[in-house]
Amino acid sequence: MSDKIVILTGAGISAESGLGTFRDEGGLWAQHRIEDVATPEGFARDPILVHEFYNARRAQAAKAQPNAGHQALAQLAAQHPGEVVVITQNVDDLHEKAGSQGVIHMHGTLSGALCSACGHRWQAALAMQPQDSCPHCAGTTTRPDVVWFGEIPYAMQTIETHLAEADLFVSIGTSAQVYPAANFVQAAAAAGARTLEFNLEPSAMATRFDDCRYGPASKTLPRWVAEILG
Ligand code: OAD
Repeated sequence: MSDKIVILTGAGISAESGLGTFRDEGGLWAQHRIEDVATPEGFARDPILVHEFYNARRAQAAKAQPNAGHQALAQLAAQHPGEVVVITQNVDDLHEKAGSQGVIHMHGTLSGALCSACGHRWQAALAMQPQDSCPHCAGTTTRPDVVWFGEIPYAMQTIETHLAEADLFVSIGTSAQVYPAANFVQAAAAAGARTLEFNLEPSAMATRFDDCRYGPASKTLPRWVAEILG
């Protein structure tokens, strides 16, 4: 079967690599206020706090290794005769470390720095600081290249095209509480795709999926990929 498979991943796929999720018990949003560390207003109020939050996550992600779930998706892309597109809400690089190519990071990446003044992007230092200057315009409004609440995710037009072309839409390890990603299942289904959810438990959008598989992604994904590849 040369179906086009479009995959959306969330924090749950990286949980077994030791990176905390957001909304599970003890998750990042239980320890930090979204308003403080994940909004442009929070950054304007206290850039040191925001840089410290992302610096800690960048250091943690740099040490993390992909798990069998990330590896299964890379194997699927390498061996499936049809197109496989991975869209991730994650800012870590574990899909890439597992060998996935062309991953769409709709919420940005920890490895990127962005100049708020001129829009220039470059490789972030492991520890970013408020006084870092932009290598292009020398401005000092440098920020992590991540999408915050109130900002528009990256590559939305490309994503909409992929969703419209999908034969199968697969959502993995996301609570489906953040839009627009939470709506992708409806967009894909409306365009005729079959839909499949992987999670530990039903997400907020579970009833929208044709099929659901519950369990840790490191176990459920390799089994599913083996089935698809026959
Ligand atoms: P959440 O923390 O909201 O949800 C993580 C999901 O992963 C939950 O539904 C868990 O049940 C599931 N999960 C946990 N461990 C799992 C495992 N081993 N295998 C399978 N599933 C597992 O994270 P996201 O949905 O990714 O955005 O959050 C979406 C966005 O909200 C993030 O990109 C971030 C956050 O605020 C921004 O910061 C803009």
